[in-house]
Amino acid sequence: MFRFDHLAVPSIHTALPGPIATGLLARDAVFVSGSYTRVYPLVVAEGSGAVIVDVDGNRFLDFTAGIAVANTGHCHPAVVAAIQDQAATLIHMSGTDFYYRPQIELAERLAALAPGPSPKKVFFCNSGAEAVEAALKLARWHTHRTRVIAFLGAFHGRTYGAMSLSGSKVTHRRGFSPLVPDVHHVPFPRECNPTCATAGCQLVRDLEEDLFHRTAPPDEIAAIFVEPIQGEGGYHALPSGCWPALRALCDKYGILLVVDEIQSGMGRTGTIFAVETAGIEPDIICTAKGIASGLPLGAIIAKADVMDWPPGSHASTFGGNPVACRAALVTLDLLESDYLVNARERGAELLSGLRELAARFPMLTLPRGRGLMIAVDTPSSAVREVIIDHCFRAGLLLLGCGETAIRFCPPLCITSGQVATALQILSTVVRELAKTCS
Ligand SMILES: Cc1ncc(COP(=O)(O)O)c(C=O)c1O
Repeated sequence: MFRFDHLAVPSIHTALPGPIATGLLARDAVFVSGSYTRVYPLVVAEGSGAVIVDVDGNRFLDFTAGIAVANTGHCHPAVVAAIQDQAATLIHMSGTDFYYRPQIELAERLAALAPGPSPKKVFFCNSGAEAVEAALKLARWHTHRTRVIAFLGAFHGRTYGAMSLSGSKVTHRRGFSPLVPDVHHVPFPRECNPTCATAGCQLVRDLEEDLFHRTAPPDEIAAIFVEPIQGEGGYHALPSGCWPALRALCDKYGILLVVDEIQSGMGRTGTIFAVETAGIEPDIICTAKGIASGLPLGAIIAKADVMDWPPGSHASTFGGNPVACRAALVTLDLLESDYLVNARERGAELLSGLRELAARFPMLTLPRGRGLMIAVDTPSSAVREVIIDHCFRAGLLLLGCGETAIRFCPPLCITSGQVATALQILSTVVRELAKTCS
């Protein structure tokens, strides 16, 4: 079904970067912003499924999905057909000022998919950061409160509100102050404390006993922003016991619970939203990345009584444009028909393969994650960079996350054979590296 299904992948036949890539890299260095963080010199020409072809014709196995975006695979034929059909019909009219069917249909669909019984409404934008900005504005508007709580290690984006909520790396913030005020960062719990079962959730106790008591009056707090699994922060999941406790805390003080599903959502963990397994209903969900299989689209899905802002208070010219909405509708069809199940099954295979590698090579920790949102830690960021670079040269595309982790977030159409190939490449790279270190 995907264009390169019949070809051997990986297939690397030039030095990397190849001659054509080298020429383009030189032009990029002159004309493109130096703020981007490219970790290896891959110049992409084509993508299909989980395969990327570079400008020199080298074929790579993609375990990045363009950073958890190409969830249905690169250029899925059904997504391409919907985009082509919509582009020939209506590309833009602005959902801010007019109505069109794809936006209404997608809003209906997302509202039905968001967990919990409350009726929902949807606001459309173009990116993850814009979704977070919208959630921050809506939270302040709805509660008439200013303060927000976010977690250390969180990444919510790079616009001013989203950057102010992020707490993962100082590079994201250095030189950009003053940021949005009244954001309180608290530690992100990676596991339940043994006392949680008897004394109640430690996170909630800390918030009530310290933050609310000393620096942030709870009646001034509009929202708590949380990623179900911190993405950029290292693929660490919020312990399941924190969810009901956080929900109860928010209810007690009239605080909104905003769940950032920008990386963990759209099937990535084997359910449409990662928070579905938490057994709670968020007040606002932020989504973007995988929602339109690579077209720029973001959305917030809020309880209808929370999304009570008046006409003109927030809008976006391009947000929810017809082409992106059509791509998103097909994306949801594909997730529901095949790829949620595939994410769970292939994710289990990847986890078990990585567990075996961790048993053989002390350089890799036991893996963590859900569905196809999986990470392993390495001894240091330097070792991690070497592993990622050597995998690239062997034809496997990976990225890092957190301080020392390698993240595995392939397209959700990945096959068992592709998972096995990736594990084989990683194993060879780590074995060679272990030899040179010993
Ligand atoms: C959890 C999370 N929130 C927000 C963002 C920001 O999304 P964007 O880059 O589309 O602005 C990201 C991007 O990596 C993310 O992972």
